[in-house]
Amino acid sequence: MDALPSKPFLTGDEAGIAEAAAHLQAGKCVAAPTETVYGLAADAFNEAAVRDIFAIKSRPFIDPLIIHIHGLEQLAKLTSTTTEQDATIQLLAEAFWPGPLTLVLPKRTEVLDLVTANQSSVAVRCPAHPVMRKLLQVSNLFLAAPSANPFGYISPTTAQHVRDSLGDRCPYILDGGPCEQGLESTIVDLRNPATPVLLRPGPISRSELEQVLGRSAPSPIAKPDPTLAPGQLERHYSPRTRLTLHAVGKLPPPLKQEAQIFLQRPSGEIEDSQYWLSEDGNLKEAAHNLFALLHTLDDQPEIVDIHCEMPDTATGVADAIRDRLIRASKR
Ligand code: TXA
Ligand code: MG
Repeated sequence: MDALPSKPFLTGDEAGIAEAAAHLQAGKCVAAPTETVYGLAADAFNEAAVRDIFAIKSRPFIDPLIIHIHGLEQLAKLTSTTTEQDATIQLLAEAFWPGPLTLVLPKRTEVLDLVTANQSSVAVRCPAHPVMRKLLQVSNLFLAAPSANPFGYISPTTAQHVRDSLGDRCPYILDGGPCEQGLESTIVDLRNPATPVLLRPGPISRSELEQVLGRSAPSPIAKPDPTLAPGQLERHYSPRTRLTLHAVGKLPPPLKQEAQIFLQRPSGEIEDSQYWLSEDGNLKEAAHNLFALLHTLDDQPEIVDIHCEMPDTATGVADAIRDRLIRASKR
């Protein structure tokens, strides 16, 4: 990697996007906003640039990357699909693209083995964030982009989170404001389109997928299977501070140096150590705020323990919140 600029932030306007696109075309990495989390982007067909993504994140090469496209018409450059797969892709893309849905499909040989961790499949997503869409358009590149955090740490939902966690290792950060969803995309494996598999719960819920597919739910995997879903680690998205999970209404009384996270604003008098993810328990809002609050608390050295309520239902985005909290709490 070359010498780094002292000012990494680029504004998410036309000039900033043009500069980011030029850096990407020159084989540099750029952190960029998406509607889910910030991604660390590079030209997916430039091997040296993709290698830098892994280096900046300290990510092991066994963990494959998602490639971002501007529209469905670009998919054929990356994937080699059957008519049956095409019909399912069409349904899902019409319903959810651009948006927080990633599809795993058989890859074309041209897609770098480095991107797919030597697998015969590739993960593809068409993001909705206007700045990312513009960046894809202006750069005219396929952008490989994992979340822009050090491997295993909390994902970034603002440009400042990227700066704080990757520091000088990330040369450019395109600022598109806070991410709307706040959790990574839903990933569906369509290699066998008769039985789609939900590899990672996300903003698009299992029931939403089910409705569009018009058939039995994609089966989420109970335990990460490295052959099916590489990179889905039991410990992930983790703050440095210890995180302990509790049923709703069962948070222990706060002790000194502890923080409490409620799903909704608690009634009565509020202590300094009490935080909440949503005013009224709205789970979309909770998802949006979750990683940002974990970043804030993790940056306070006086807090040594975080106790957090966990949604008790597994419907809608609650499934994704539970998934992230469980992984974040693992030691
Ligand atoms: O919302 C998102 O998806 C964000 C934004 C930046 O787009 N990206 C993201 O990337 O979450 P990352 O690298 O943090 O997660 C990618 C995960 C991998 O860890 C792996 O589990 C799965 O996607 N994946 C990628 N390629 C795959 C493949 N060929 N087969 C199965 N799973 C794959
Ligand atoms: Mg990630």
